[in-house]
Amino acid sequence: MINNAIPLRIAGIGYSVPETVVTNEDLTKLYDTSDEWIYTRTGIKERRLVSGNEDALSLGVDAAKKALDKSGLKPDDIELIIVASSAPPQLYPAIGCRIQTALNIPNNIPAFDITAACSGLIYALSIARGYIASGMYKNILLVATDNNSRLLDWSDRSCSILFGDGAGAMVVTASDDGVDDIISLDIRADGSIGDIIQLNLQGKNCPLVEQREESNQYIQMNGKEVYRFVARVLPEYVENLIANANMKAEDIDYLIPHQANLRIIQAVQERLGYANEKVVTNIEKYGNTSAASIPLALVEGVEKGKVKLGATAILTGFGAGMTWGGCIVRLREGIC
Ligand code: COA
Repeated sequence: MINNAIPLRIAGIGYSVPETVVTNEDLTKLYDTSDEWIYTRTGIKERRLVSGNEDALSLGVDAAKKALDKSGLKPDDIELIIVASSAPPQLYPAIGCRIQTALNIPNNIPAFDITAACSGLIYALSIARGYIASGMYKNILLVATDNNSRLLDWSDRSCSILFGDGAGAMVVTASDDGVDDIISLDIRADGSIGDIIQLNLQGKNCPLVEQREESNQYIQMNGKEVYRFVARVLPEYVENLIANANMKAEDIDYLIPHQANLRIIQAVQERLGYANEKVVTNIEKYGNTSAASIPLALVEGVEKGKVKLGATAILTGFGAGMTWGGCIVRLREGIC
């Protein structure tokens, strides 16, 4: 971090999920699968999916409202909006611009979207941290939202079982008590293996020129390769994140990981030597909600009494890119 950096306070967090529940049993109407197959390999029992006109924007607006409400800030106070979305309803206008209008946030502030897939919230937080540290902006709204279900091939049983829809939001602000809620933050990418999860935009070349090869327009994933990569990299990465912060695993109260696969979460848990009480999982109910999954797990963990505020937590995520990241945070009372 830069010298004289202004510390960051996490002021409010919220989430939003669609009402509609689709269980593993429901998926047997689409293809040959079973609750047992899905649950034993992933830890997922059901997921929430957008229906009708719901989408990542409507979920994002709802999550942002809740985070703003908890933060005690008003729409007028927000100076920048950053949205992490990799499965958005449209590429532009940016969801950030749409949220600005929907929440009556002043129409002369900057708003933009970033793409870091399931690591999106941690990437967005790292950008916000830089802006706050430098004094450029004081109050920033972060939203992580994806409508994966609209971009899945619902005949692909190895990929479509995994994902759900949802949104998370965080309001961060310059800390006025000198305490930085970000104890440590790190983000990474390795584009050399980028094709193990991808989503191509459809499109055709100008009719006057040679056409390109048709590409699949849905989320495509080599599940085995993703699993192998993450299981190899993530546990050691999280261990190093803690050591680089001059901390020990036992100094931190909770592990709140991206909810992609229960077996991967357990591999990180084992490496840290954490008891189940310290590890927050809700993949069983929501599947993989991409960028939204960390704030969703965090706030739901608080609502259920599993996570006590006034504690510290490791947030860690990974996703297409491949991207990954981790953050050790202080969770103050009243943030959700
Ligand atoms: N139900 C029943 N059988 C299924 C199935 C389903 N939903 N999906 C795949 N299968 C079958 C395959 O057809 C294959 O059958 P075959 O051996 O007769 O060819 C067999 O099960 C094994 O398929 P495979 O894709 O190799 O399964 P897997 O053990 O790798 O498990 C995942 C698939 C997706 C659950 C697993 O790879 C995974 O979780 N990967 C990580 C994905 C991830 O985290 N992505 C998000 C990143 S942010």
